[in-house]
Amino acid sequence: MNDLFDNDVTHKIAALRASIAEHDYKYYVLDNPSISDAQYDYLFKQLQALEEQNPLFITPDSPTQRIGGKPLASFNNITHKQAMLSLNNAFEVKELTAFDKRIRETLGVDNVDYAVEPKFDGLAVTLSYENGIFIQGATRGDGYTGEDVTLNLRTIKAIPIRLLTNKPPKLLEIRGEVLMLRKDFARLNAKQAANNDKLFVNPRNAAAGSLRQLDPVITAKRSLMFFAYGLGVAEGIPILRTHDEAMQYLANLSLPVAKERQRVLGLPALLDFYADVAAKRPYLPYDIDGVVYKVNSFAQQNELGFVSRAPRWAIAHKFPAEEALTVIEDITVQVGRTGAITPVARLKAIFVGGVNVTNATLHNEDEVRRKDVHIGDTVIVRRAGDVIPEVLRALPEHRPHDAKRFEMPTVCPICGSAIIKLTDEAIARCSGGLFCPAQRKQAIIHFASRRALDIEGLGEKLVDQLVEADLVHHLNDIYTLTIEQLAGLDRMATKSAQNLIKALELSKKTTLARFIYALGIRNIGESTAKDLSRYFGNLVAIQTADMDRLQQVPDIGPIVAESLFKFMNEPHNIKVINALIQSGVHWPESDLNMLKNGVLTGKTFVLTGTLPTLSRDEAKSLIEGAGGRVSGSVSKKTNFVLAGSEAGSKLERANELGLMVIDEPTLLKLLA
Ligand code: IVH
Repeated sequence: MNDLFDNDVTHKIAALRASIAEHDYKYYVLDNPSISDAQYDYLFKQLQALEEQNPLFITPDSPTQRIGGKPLASFNNITHKQAMLSLNNAFEVKELTAFDKRIRETLGVDNVDYAVEPKFDGLAVTLSYENGIFIQGATRGDGYTGEDVTLNLRTIKAIPIRLLTNKPPKLLEIRGEVLMLRKDFARLNAKQAANNDKLFVNPRNAAAGSLRQLDPVITAKRSLMFFAYGLGVAEGIPILRTHDEAMQYLANLSLPVAKERQRVLGLPALLDFYADVAAKRPYLPYDIDGVVYKVNSFAQQNELGFVSRAPRWAIAHKFPAEEALTVIEDITVQVGRTGAITPVARLKAIFVGGVNVTNATLHNEDEVRRKDVHIGDTVIVRRAGDVIPEVLRALPEHRPHDAKRFEMPTVCPICGSAIIKLTDEAIARCSGGLFCPAQRKQAIIHFASRRALDIEGLGEKLVDQLVEADLVHHLNDIYTLTIEQLAGLDRMATKSAQNLIKALELSKKTTLARFIYALGIRNIGESTAKDLSRYFGNLVAIQTADMDRLQQVPDIGPIVAESLFKFMNEPHNIKVINALIQSGVHWPESDLNMLKNGVLTGKTFVLTGTLPTLSRDEAKSLIEGAGGRVSGSVSKKTNFVLAGSEAGSKLERANELGLMVIDEPTLLKLLA
């Protein structure tokens, strides 16, 4: 039996695998099984037995190998070969009229050929197939980098491990949505209830929680589904001219695509499709939060292009947010990371938009007045998709006689510092800064969050305790925590303390963009942090850049530049940053840091354009005085390009090569 040349066995194994793959496809993708569950189990067991007897023949693409690998400690990050962008949203017909009009005008056509499909309410992922074999899958993440969830995606039976084709493409990236069917969600929650475990709020949360399990064995038990809605990078595929053809191609390769997808012509047909799907919505096997319209022709898509992070050739037409009535039991204020004081309505619990809502933001004091909301009022609460619930308006006709007006506190309820509201700002802020424990807590939670330094286990509850026990006064204090200190806290055993210390250690290896984002600088979100990191390449350059320089970064205007500049020049912040670096927080940097230490030896500069104060010769002698070399032409070997005004082709070339470009003030600051 255990004979490598036993053709009979290899044939049998191959036939069983093909047969199981086909039945998986019929059951999970086509939803149209042709054999009974018992017959399927029989095939599966036969294959398992043969493989057990002939372990040499077990290959990763066997259906018996869907669940494999040890539980992970954490997910690796994956940089997408092609960014995973998002869609612009529209709720109103007039927005769609404008969308269609712009496309017609840009393309110069009377009627647009659209591909239309449901907007799945799940999580976006990308699947990579090499020579027809599923080799890697990742979450969307921030669109540029996501998490490697390959092992979990392999457990999803609707995702083929091997594409159904004799001519597999060399490389094929498939974009789509992971979700949980409503029936599987109901089953999962029934099981959770029977075990006294926490219930999932909606299928999307259940799908997200299941896909982010570190142990694929758990994911495998969760019955997830996948639908493809697009392509990423592809090599060796047939010529595809339209989205429709691409979807048909994927369907032929045995990937699930939405049954509801269609091709339609012109705006009125878009709106018909919307109405059609809205009527079908309650009967669909999965949750959707709208429909998506895409220009069908790839050539036309290319012509339309992108604006910021969304295509001009597609739009999501979302279903209206759900609304419900409830009562405001109280209005309290929350202190945010930047001290912003937000009034929050504490509501009588109400189920709306697929979740239980007990709090809704009232944004700011002006908003409370404008909406004329009192404590005790009956209000309309609205929640759309994954958006924070908000109070839409009060129903004054239901106002009880003892309803109370909301008064904005004059001092911070947490730290007692004055609350200040600048005349030109709607937002009131606590003036306590990081002295305010609420702001400190938020700053730490933000620092530790997944998109920042990603410190597993450092969540809200623990941060509360750390700040209240005064163990963490400044951000950097988290890195001097000891197992003894941690184990002394509520609900912290030695084991979890050890785990946290490990997680803290792991978090020290990061990227410049994450670090900048983690600092929680006002107006600096994740994408601005990335822009800064890309543009400057290293922290010192960001710290030393002046307002003008900062505004040279694409998308950075005076407001963002000012808050960054102020932050970087605030002595307390400089201390915290230095302390974090001293604790071992590090990231790969470009060479500029070495400049600061006066080590110009071996560094090649190219000068271009007119510098504001220095002559070429002066700049040259400064650089050479610090050990650097000045060369006349830009090449890959150039370390820095010092650019002044009217810099021409050399600057272009430098940008093409991705070289570090600095200006005179930066050079002077660094040499100082
Ligand atoms: S296309 C460049 N099609 O919506 C366009 N997205 O807001 C990329 N989504 O991250 C997206 N159903 O998670 C597309 N039929 C569909 C979709 C869909 C759901 C999600 C997806 C994406 C988000 C964008």
